[in-house]
Amino acid sequence: MCGIVGYAGPRDAQQVLIDGLQRLEYRGYDSAGIAVVNEEESLQVFKDEGDVTKLTGSMPVIEGHIGIGHTRWATCGKPSKENAHPMIDCENCIALVHNGIIENRAELRDRLENEGHIFTSETDTEVLVHLLEEYYDGNLRSALARALEDVKGTYAVAAVRKGSNEIVAARKENPLIVGLGSEENFIASDVTAVLNYTNKVIYIEDGEILTLTPSGVEIFNDKGEKINKDYITIPWTAEDAQKGGFEHYMLKEIFEQPLAIHNSLLGNFDKIMSSDFLSSQDFSSVKLIACGTSYNASLVGKYAIEYLAGIPVTVELASECRYSSETREDPLVILVTQSGETADTLAAARLAKKRGHRTLAVTNVVGSTITREVDNVLYTQAGPEIGVAATKTYVTQLMAMYMLALKLGKSRTLRRDEIHRYTHGLKSMPRTVSNVLAKSDEISEAVGMLTNAQSAFFLGRHINYPTMLEGALKLKEISYIHAEGYAAGELKHGPLALLDSNTPTVAACVWDMSYEKMLSAISEVAARDSPVLGIGIEGDRDLEAIVDRIISIPEVEGILSPIPLTVAVQLIAYHTARKRGCPIDRPKNLAKSVTVD
Ligand code: F6R
Repeated sequence: MCGIVGYAGPRDAQQVLIDGLQRLEYRGYDSAGIAVVNEEESLQVFKDEGDVTKLTGSMPVIEGHIGIGHTRWATCGKPSKENAHPMIDCENCIALVHNGIIENRAELRDRLENEGHIFTSETDTEVLVHLLEEYYDGNLRSALARALEDVKGTYAVAAVRKGSNEIVAARKENPLIVGLGSEENFIASDVTAVLNYTNKVIYIEDGEILTLTPSGVEIFNDKGEKINKDYITIPWTAEDAQKGGFEHYMLKEIFEQPLAIHNSLLGNFDKIMSSDFLSSQDFSSVKLIACGTSYNASLVGKYAIEYLAGIPVTVELASECRYSSETREDPLVILVTQSGETADTLAAARLAKKRGHRTLAVTNVVGSTITREVDNVLYTQAGPEIGVAATKTYVTQLMAMYMLALKLGKSRTLRRDEIHRYTHGLKSMPRTVSNVLAKSDEISEAVGMLTNAQSAFFLGRHINYPTMLEGALKLKEISYIHAEGYAAGELKHGPLALLDSNTPTVAACVWDMSYEKMLSAISEVAARDSPVLGIGIEGDRDLEAIVDRIISIPEVEGILSPIPLTVAVQLIAYHTARKRGCPIDRPKNLAKSVTVD
């Protein structure tokens, strides 16, 4: 939700800010803007409704070497030029960008208006810049610290002032990093914005406030004491975060999945299998908590852990956790979040800690907020994901679920030969997934039955019920077709009434314990004239006989089948959206990391 970036150094700030904003657009793209302090010590601000490309189309050359920028996902105030950041004070001296929510904005705005401040936008952010103006007495950092004392809410915030070569910034519950260069420094919401220039990064934590100039960074804690923080070297390159010849980031990321799976095994398998943290027998249940796609991965995790380790697992939506009652259970709580920044998941982690539970985060982002909230972290190793719709981060979350299930099963239910068999299945996944990717053109042809639909069903059973929830979610978010993932057995309890020749069904049917019942469900659907796109195992003639089109995946252990099936449903969603001409990497109303609750 909104991306912020800042630069201080010898380069042309305008270029660096635009480059950074383009890389942060996955966080929001309904308006954008920059503010640059130039040599003549004036402050130049340029902003507009629309994405960064639109902004650059009309932007004049702005000279200067210090600046801040913003790309917005509207929360408070509709997308418009007035509501775009940076926000400016009454005297045009201070510019400020913000990611987060100011909860007491109404009260602060009343106070500031009574004191004579003129507001020009509907945003909550504007109160911050007027507070800075109010408190500025020659030191911008002190003014920011005082302003933040008045504020209730969350923020990653950065500001510049004309006549100064410093950027001040602070964070509370929204991500903020500092990138360290040579005689130049950066701030950003996310490392991908600075990877072109540096991979030395400091993660700013809640309550910290900083001053950044070309020659250095000073960081202060919430008591105003100067602190020293070590940097982390990020193992990603700028190329990792580029399209690399693919039409969309999403397609590139779908095709990167064999490598992502390989890296996830390489980085995690031995570590998980020998982990003391997971060896202890003193938890009798597991609770997985997540949102959206990560919730679907957690549902797969439930089936996998219960099947392979015999431990009861519950799965909770992070946004609902806050209403849960404390029970006598003391589960191992696993927070699943690709970004590590989702506000609801962070709140759930804090609640779990407060209740004294042991916590493990499964995330893709080194140094993200969740990693500081939990007892242990498992990195999914997917590499940077730019497409808003999660693909390789989802598949590597599945890998994490399987590895955890194997580890937990090792000391409980699984025999050696079984561990060996499933390990072999996981290690073969890069090849299995490559086989599915080779069918991309075939899938592109097969989705003809979906492209004009208004509504579609995705059916599965057992561990592929969540796979089809994920298929439906992907189709919804990038093609704007209404889609419902359903447990096939539930269809006759209501939704069957919706089926007709205009409502296609995508059905997962693999050779596992649910096979016969899936065949029956597909026959029921076909009998209501719903066109069926079946996804099954190569050579399955029975399935082929009852569906309109079939996409075949290589034979795998049923319990591991969500991985290749997921790749097939990702490609179904991608090709459908592409044929409908949708903005695949930037679906409307969505942003990649949801840092408001
Ligand atoms: C959809 C998608 C979202 C996220 C959700 C949680 O493709 O990516 O549903 O899964 O917003 O995000 P994380 O995993 O970062 O907590």
